[in-house]
Amino acid sequence: MAIRKIRVIGDPCLNKVCKPVVKMTQNMKDLIEDMFDTMYEAKGVGLAAPQVGILRRICVVDVMDGEPVVLINPELVETSGEQTEDEGCLSVPGKVAEVTRPDYVLVRSLDMDMNPVTYEGQGLRARAILHEMDHLEGVLYGERANEPYRDLEDEDLEEEE
Ligand code: NI
Repeated sequence: MAIRKIRVIGDPCLNKVCKPVVKMTQNMKDLIEDMFDTMYEAKGVGLAAPQVGILRRICVVDVMDGEPVVLINPELVETSGEQTEDEGCLSVPGKVAEVTRPDYVLVRSLDMDMNPVTYEGQGLRARAILHEMDHLEGVLYGERANEPYRDLEDEDLEEEE
């Protein structure tokens, strides 16, 4: 296991369209394990390969629902509903912004053996899957947000009513 360096906003890796995974190799398995370690260490709920400088279509998501998921070459099959919540990103440290996204997703992916599989997500899980899939297109959540990035610190300093 290894913790990899998370690229932050301004790094060109975050604006690139990632290439599909064609073959599962030991390097790819190591990368996926490192992505989980890096995400957990940073206390995130998702991480995409370009965030650690690898321009491949891989993301990991764990919203602490007991079902961590690896997405390899993911494709959206279906979305429905709508949710509006504050969102953050490990590549945009200290910031949040409100984003409206579908409340439900169905995605097609490959599993660790490169076999087709589908995953569903509702609420936070749907949001995290969609956020990570955006990274594979070089899109940061700020581009989808309803407002400019806000400082996370400001929230903590708000006076109680
Ligand atoms: Ni992100």
